[in-house]
Amino acid sequence: QLGDEDVDIGELLMSPLWLEEANPALPLPPALFGPAPARRNSEGIDLAVEPMRAPLLAALETTAVPVVELFDAASAAKAVAASAAAFRSWRKTPVEARAAMLRQAADALQRELPRFCALLVKEAFKTWGDAVAEVREAVDFLRYYADEAERIMQPVALPGPTGESNELRLTARGPWVCISPWNFPLAIFAGQVAAALATGNTVLAKPAEQTPAVALEAVKLLHAAGVPADALQLLHGPGETVGAALVAAPGVAGVVFTGSTQVARIIHRALAAKDGPIVPLIAETGGINAMLVDSSALPEQVVDAVVQSAFRSAGQRCSALRLLVLHDGIADAVIEMIRGAAGELAAGDPALLATDVGPVIDGEAAGNIRRHLERLDSEAKRLLAPASYSSTEGNLIAPQAYEVPSIDSVTSEIFGPVLQIARWGQGDLRDPAEVIDRINALGYGLTLGIQTRIDSRAQALAARAHVGNIYVNRNIIGAVVGVQPFGGEGLSGTGPKAGGPHYLYRFCAEQTVTVNT
Ligand code: NAD
Ligand code: ALA
Repeated sequence: QLGDEDVDIGELLMSPLWLEEANPALPLPPALFGPAPARRNSEGIDLAVEPMRAPLLAALETTAVPVVELFDAASAAKAVAASAAAFRSWRKTPVEARAAMLRQAADALQRELPRFCALLVKEAFKTWGDAVAEVREAVDFLRYYADEAERIMQPVALPGPTGESNELRLTARGPWVCISPWNFPLAIFAGQVAAALATGNTVLAKPAEQTPAVALEAVKLLHAAGVPADALQLLHGPGETVGAALVAAPGVAGVVFTGSTQVARIIHRALAAKDGPIVPLIAETGGINAMLVDSSALPEQVVDAVVQSAFRSAGQRCSALRLLVLHDGIADAVIEMIRGAAGELAAGDPALLATDVGPVIDGEAAGNIRRHLERLDSEAKRLLAPASYSSTEGNLIAPQAYEVPSIDSVTSEIFGPVLQIARWGQGDLRDPAEVIDRINALGYGLTLGIQTRIDSRAQALAARAHVGNIYVNRNIIGAVVGVQPFGGEGLSGTGPKAGGPHYLYRFCAEQTVTVNT
């Protein structure tokens, strides 16, 4: 069972990982709403959804997707000027008052969970399980950043010589441009906006053009909670015009961006080319996320983690598993089990309670994924039945898996339910540390899974990886706010980690005040 690796059986038997469930319940700070478990009942309905099925289905009937007004990119400088004017009073609003507004919006969002879930299903084609998890995450972000701003924005007295007082303060910077993606159109949108507002900055929010309505409804809650209209402006439109114009406008004090690595580079260059102050950029981008499995791993646990990580949310998570690296000793058995488990997933209409995998966001995304699948059909070994992706079912792409010749054959993020599998433990790739080096060499660094029952190996491999979020013996998606601060390095982003204790600092300037007493 343990293959030909160097396994210390004594340590293996002592390892607490031996006894753990695949997805242990995570401890939550009391202020947080909490993670949504992703388990299903006998009808195939997510257990997080089941108790709410009546209000959710009722909301589906009654919730209309509002039409939004497009912003004229030529007015970007005017919008930033209005934001700068609003900043003068918003920055003076006590942090406790700003935090109270965010908490009020969180309470409203929690009360309106069914309506927001229905919007996510209708506009972003989320399954109900994903929609519930996303609303919960948005609520967590609002509450967490409210708490964090109150914690960090208190002046700190520093020791100094007699006759002098020294104080370190965090201050707001000014208008922030918040640019968000369609794959978490509520949680990431709300997280960026809440972080900027909590720290006393004003916001020009540019949501993804595919998902404007959910952003509109979230902004209404924040305005209703007391955030002034000019302190939080919502500007809809294409990234290439509206997003670019906002980034380029004079007076922008910071940009927080979540999306593709390619667009992060465009924004980085545009900011570098600007005259005036150097503008900070927080960029959270994509990844070629891998999971390394050694021959001591528990196959059932591996398969469960792989299926959730690669195929949940139709693979449209930046954290999703793209590359599974299996030890040759167990590869055939695990691949067979993945084929069985993936074959049981129900792909289809996201509005149906038992759907596991909904369609991808639009025709352009589906076209991109299909082009990758055609390439993989010629370069790799297909492991799942082909029928679904070449069908005429619109943007629905059923889970796909391929065995690729090597780790290095995976060179780009395929943003859909497509898993690539490589082997190690044979030929010149016998050392798991070398596997990690090859994964590091891909240049991304967002999430990584390690499946092993050898505790010291897990720790050593984690320390070697240049990756922001590492998960041992579980799935690699669904980071919980305040529990698993989230974000990567290298091509995956600049940090700091969203939902973590260092995030808000980047939205602030620092001031040291020294007084000769
Ligand atoms: P995208 O980069 O195409 O778009 C993201 C946002 O940028 C959208 O609002 C878009 O309108 C805007 N934009 C596009 N061009 C712009 C420009 N020239 N100037 C300013 N703004 C511009 O990404 P997407 O397709 O919406 O999202 C998918 C990508 O996001 C994937 O690569 C995924 O991995 C990544 N992502 C990362 C995280 C993370 O936390 N690391 C989370 C979610 C998604
Ligand atoms: N934060 C999201 C996750 O961890 C993207 O899946």
